[in-house]
Formats: sequence, structure tokens, C-alpha cells
Amino acid sequence: MSAVMSSASTDTAWRELHEAATVPYKKGGSFAWHFARGKLGRDPVFRGLLERGLVGAQHQRVVDIGCGQGLFASLLASMSAMQKKGRWPSSWSTTPAAADYTGIELMPKDVARAQASIGHLQPTPQLVCGDMCSAALPDCDLVVILDVLHYVDLEAQEGVLQRVRSALAGGGNPQARLLLRVGDASSRRGFAISQWVDRTVTRIRGHKVSPTWGRPLADWKALLQRLGFRVQSIPMSEGTPFANVLLVADLEAAA
Ligand SMILES: C[S@@+](CC[C@H](N)C(=O)[O-])C[C@H]1O[C@@H](n2cnc3c(N)ncnc32)[C@H](O)[C@@H]1O
Repeated sequence: MSAVMSSASTDTAWRELHEAATVPYKKGGSFAWHFARGKLGRDPVFRGLLERGLVGAQHQRVVDIGCGQGLFASLLASMSAMQKKGRWPSSWSTTPAAADYTGIELMPKDVARAQASIGHLQPTPQLVCGDMCSAALPDCDLVVILDVLHYVDLEAQEGVLQRVRSALAGGGNPQARLLLRVGDASSRRGFAISQWVDRTVTRIRGHKVSPTWGRPLADWKALLQRLGFRVQSIPMSEGTPFANVLLVADLEAAA
């Protein structure tokens, strides 16, 4: 990894990163390409993670649960490439030089789109078609779960988080981290809007629309603390009508 950091403005660097991370989706077809461009451009979470230095070089082994078409894998690879070229703003932290990425996704069509688009990246992303409630979670340094847990009931959510805790602890990295974005059910209007959008998108994608399960922010934090995480919450729905919150949960032992 080059230690050379350019002083490029973060807006310019973000545009470059957006372009680089979405280019692979041209291989996956028109839907994959447009979806990647829209999602990466409009969802504040991706740039938010970067600007706050929440993904560090020490987060080498990454598990992305409910990965969809694997946008986070493409982002990691493009971030690494920009750093190698020295095109990285000095205010942004270094991210993994070559992340070992495992994406777990329930929907076979999403996995196929991910495979067609980013299957060629190096190191090769592992794309697993499976249910997060039962799929094996490899030992890792970073788990990312963005807008996924509400698809399963409260008991199943806790089961997933317990297994995430074990996978992070098993990795042996004292800086292991879970990045979990959820809706805050205590913010009724924003939560209702995100549920409505979620159902509509699910229907448009041709999937059966199932009920969703939320918790107020305080309950999410209490659950994570009970499972042995140190938690901070960051509002993460800027520029959208949602009530999304990013929970940054570090293993308690890392305190
Ligand atoms: C709102 S999308 C978020 C996708 C991705 N995390 C992102 O931020 O771009 C939720 C994803 O979770 C997946 N999902 C839902 N239930 C799941 C389960 N039980 N196991 C694995 N993935 C699941 C959906 O198929 C969908 O791709």
C-alpha cells in the first residue's frame, strides 16, 4: 500500500470513487449499473463511513450480510486502488489494502448480478447465496449489515447478532467492528416511510413482500450492549426522509 496521500478535495475524490466502484456493474446489465450508481450516489451511508474513518486498514476480513449486489465489495476494491495510486485525500483514513470479502445474500438473482459484476475483482469476493439466520459466518474483522435485520423477527435478529459477535471475537482482532444500519422505530414518521419504500422496492423487484420488524434506537443499543458490544449511534439518513441510524459496535474487549 502506498503511503502517499494526495491533497485532492474530498468531493473530487468521492466522484472518482463513485465512478470506479460503479463501472464493474456495466458487466451485470442495465439494472445492476443504474442501481449501483443511484444507490452509491444517493445513500449517505457509504460516504459517511469513509468521512468518519469507520473502516480501517485493520479491517481486512469483511463480512457483508444482506449484501445485495455486493456494492460494498466494489467500494472496498476501488478505495484500495485509489490509495495505491496515491489519489486519496489526506483527511480520509486508509482502508484495507486487499480486503477478503464475503457477501451473504438471500436472493439468488442478486447473487447472480453480484457475481456477473464483481466476480472478477481481486481478491475474489466470496458471494454466498444463503439465509443470514443459518449461513456460516467466517471469523472476521468487520461485519457490515446495512438495512437488512428488519426482514427477520426480533428473536432471529438477536440470533444473527449473537453469531456476528462470535465471528468477530473468533477473528482475534481487538479492533473488530460491526457496522449496523437500522431504522429507529421510535421516529414514527421516518420509520413508516422507510417501511413503505422497502415494501414497494421489494414488490418491484418481484419478491414476496413479508412483514418487517423494527425496534426503537434505545432497544437496539441495549441489545448490542447486552451481547458485549460498545455502541455509538450516528444518524445516517441525511438527504432522505428515513429515520436510519448507523450503529458502530465494537467488541467490549476493545474498550
Ligand atoms: C435493503 S437491501 C440492502 C442491500 C445492501 N445491504 C445495501 O445496503 O445496498 C436488503 C438486502 O437484504 C437481503 N436479505 C433479506 N433477508 C435476508 C436474509 N434472511 N438473509 C440474507 N439476506 C437477506 C435482501 O434480499 C436485500 O438484498
